[in-house]
Formats: sequence, structure tokens, C-alpha cells
Amino acid sequence: MQHLIDLNDYPISWWNKIVSLAQDIYTNPGRYKGACSGKVMGTLFYEPSTRTQMSFQTAMLRLGGSLIGFDNPATSSVSKGENLKDTTKIVSGYADILVIRHPMEGAAKAAALTADCPVINAGDGGHLHPTQTLTDMLTLTLEKGRLDNLVIGMCGDLINGRTVHSLCKALSFYKNNKFIFVSTPELRIPSYIKDILNANGCEFKEASTLEEVMPELDVLYMTRIQSERFTSMEEYEAQKNVYVLDKNKMKAGKKDLIVLHPLPRVDEITMDVDDDSRALYFKQARYGVFIRMALVLTMIENKDTVQLLKGTVLKDTCCSNPRCITNRENYLPKSFRKSGDIAECEYCDERILLN
Ligand code: CP
Repeated sequence: MQHLIDLNDYPISWWNKIVSLAQDIYTNPGRYKGACSGKVMGTLFYEPSTRTQMSFQTAMLRLGGSLIGFDNPATSSVSKGENLKDTTKIVSGYADILVIRHPMEGAAKAAALTADCPVINAGDGGHLHPTQTLTDMLTLTLEKGRLDNLVIGMCGDLINGRTVHSLCKALSFYKNNKFIFVSTPELRIPSYIKDILNANGCEFKEASTLEEVMPELDVLYMTRIQSERFTSMEEYEAQKNVYVLDKNKMKAGKKDLIVLHPLPRVDEITMDVDDDSRALYFKQARYGVFIRMALVLTMIENKDTVQLLKGTVLKDTCCSNPRCITNRENYLPKSFRKSGDIAECEYCDERILLN
């Protein structure tokens, strides 16, 4: 069974194959009608979603398949205390492919440990969102004609932005991409992402205003300040509305700049920007259907086996990330990638110092 938990579990050739298939589906949708006839997709959304959930559902319906699932755990037996393992085991016995979104980091990997069908990570807390990244890669391919030689500005909630983390990781593997991170000190890009960029020889810098970087950018990736990831409303209030892209700021952008946003938007892009031909976020959301059709087609019949946990189980060590799934679902093996005194949680990538 093939799962999609983290894009980095696959070689770049696999990503390129998915993007290429999505381009073909976009150009020739009729060829794929009925390709998943008789197959069932289970969608387990423990956290709200519009685009990811409905684009997966649309993808499956356009391929001729059917759907089961929930979009609110309160209406399922999760509300009676059923754990992730049991819910996954049951639904993966009904479905041919599972799509899961969960507020805890590493939850999709935890679900895949138990599932009897392929699992796709549709967002695990502030950690990863690989299918958004594939959507962004398809958008860049269709709209910029390339995934390399780009200056990419990322603005907003860079610490909690799983779409930002996944996209940085992916684009760092393509030639000559440069990243400019625009955020407040509190919402800076995590150091593990900087380490990946350094390891892949990618240039990056941090800035505090959008104005100072606008003229340099080929791509501006705006993000929402995620109120649901803050521990208090005061902390959120201090961060919201710091960065707002408006018509005036757009004047400093290149003619062929493209503005992307994984959406939903709150106040970080004013509505008048929507009429600018460089604002492509609605188109980007639509491209999400084609990439998800390509993914479902690729994964549903795949019989390859993948080893999900490759590290060392440390029974007496807990992940220090309070949002890690291992701190909620206690039966999960606490598995870490060890390197000297450092252990990296195999679910959420948090690093801890061993003593
Ligand atoms: N981009 C994205 O993940 O949107 P939803 O939260 O609406 O799925």
C-alpha cells in the first residue's frame, strides 16, 4: 500500500509524475471519466475544510467513484471516545482509499499504521499539507511554466503554516529557487525548514515588511494568521492584520508576479486585489481537483509496501511537542530518528535533546 504522509517520502520523479498526470487530466478530462468506478473514498475530517475536502470529493466523483466519511467528528463515534486507530481500522475496511485531516501533528502517519487501504494526509495540525503542495506545484507549472529559478516570497503565519512548510521543502529540491520569508519575529519560519534549505543549498532571507521585497518576487505566497493555532486570543490579536496585501502594494510587484494563497483568506488580502490578473488564488484552488484526481488514480491500485516507521522506539521518551499525536494516542510506538544526542519524532518531526 502506498500512503502519502509527507512528499519527502517520495523521489522528485514521483512528484513530477503526479504533476504531469494532473496536467493531462486538466487537458483531457474525458479520458479519465469512470477510471475509479466501483471504488470508495473515505474522508475523515477531524478539522474544518472547504477546499481540501471538497476537491478530494469532486476528484473521486469525477473519476466515477463514491464517497463515505465525516466532516465533523462530533457526528461520528469519535464523540463517544473512539480513538484514531479504531476509527481508521473500521473506515479503511469500508473504503479503497482514505483521506484524513486532523488537528494533531503526525495524525495521518498514525492512521496509516493501522489502515487497510492507502492513506492521504490532508493536513496534520501545523505540520504538513502535501496535497496543497502538489496543488501549488501544478499551479506554478501551469502558470509560470517552471518549478525552478523562482524567487518566492512567503508571508504571514510562517511558524504554523503547514502549506508553507511543505512547499518550501518541495521547492528546495528544484534548481536555483530563492525564498524570502516575511513575518513577525513571533511567527518566523521554523529552524528545521531553514536547515532543509541550507542542506539543499537554497538561498533564503527574512524580512519584516512586504513593501521591501515586492519588486524582487516571481511568486508571492500569502497565508492566513491561524487563530486556531494560538494558545490565547491576545497572542492572535497581536499578530492579525500585520501583513495585508492591497492594491497599492501590488503596484510594486513585477508584471508577471503571481499571487497565491492556500485559502481561506481572512483579512490578509483585500478584495480589490482579486481583480488584478496576477491574483491566482481562486484558480489555484480549482487546480486542486486535477492534482487530487492524479493522486487518487496513482495510489488507489498501488500495491507497493512502505515502511512508515524506520527509527528507534524509545519507550520512556515522550515527544516534547504538545500537539504531537503521540501525546494524545498513548498506544502509538514512540519512534524517533536518532542522531547523536538528538532524537527527531517520526510523527511530527519535533527534535528533542536526549540526556
Ligand atoms: N487550502 C486548504 O487547505 O483549504 P481548506 O482548509 O479549506 O481545506
